[in-house]
Amino acid sequence: MKNFENNILILFAHPALQNSRVNRQLIKYVTGLDGVTFHDLYEAYPDFHINVKHEQNLLLKNDVIVFHHPLFWFSVPAIVREWMDLVLQHMWAYGKTGKALEGKTLFNVITTGGRESLFRHDGSHGNTMIEFLAPIRQSAYVCGMNFLPPFVVHGTRNITQKEIVSHGEGYRKIIVALRDGKVNLEAARSHQRLNADIESIIITER
Ligand SMILES: Cc1cc2nc3c(=O)[nH]c(=O)nc-3n(C[C@H](O)[C@H](O)[C@H](O)COP(=O)(O)O)c2cc1C
Repeated sequence: MKNFENNILILFAHPALQNSRVNRQLIKYVTGLDGVTFHDLYEAYPDFHINVKHEQNLLLKNDVIVFHHPLFWFSVPAIVREWMDLVLQHMWAYGKTGKALEGKTLFNVITTGGRESLFRHDGSHGNTMIEFLAPIRQSAYVCGMNFLPPFVVHGTRNITQKEIVSHGEGYRKIIVALRDGKVNLEAARSHQRLNADIESIIITER
């Protein structure tokens, strides 16, 4: 097996994938990639009985953790909260001896019904997506993880097929670059969204 700079774990959560238009397509761009483990939480745990040991072992084997989900009520779908409540145990993920996740990287991949202009201080939602993610960002910080801005696909109600393809390609580009250690993390943190200007955060060989 090839050794990658970073192994990536995508924790995907969509409770009604059969009705999905956008996420159903986006996931096709990141499944089957070497060094990337795609894990569908609703498929694995339709009854919410999360196998904590299994999830913790997956986390230990990976360096970059991705929560990929649609935005539900300005937050994550329920299974992601259940997963966090059960898997991120005291003295394992945080607390005096809880160092299991230290140094790993975390970010969200999110689709939203609302268009981008709503997620501004002067927009009707009044907050940016990073601000809505405060509980995740602070949880990552408490676990000693590096939090990156989210990859966001806004306006799913009116999105064109061409735009979905372009987002899918961007998603794959960022995942592969992270896997290969080719993302300038400082540059990535300077953006509101990882996909605001993808080329500016990817390190290219001269
Ligand atoms: C229960 C529920 C809550 C939602 N909450 C939000 C929300 O808070 N903000 C928003 O912009 N879109 C919201 N949406 C719209 C979804 O984010 C949108 O339908 C989804 O991203 C589309 O992706 P899909 O085609 O993969 O299902 C919500 C949808 C559902 C079903």
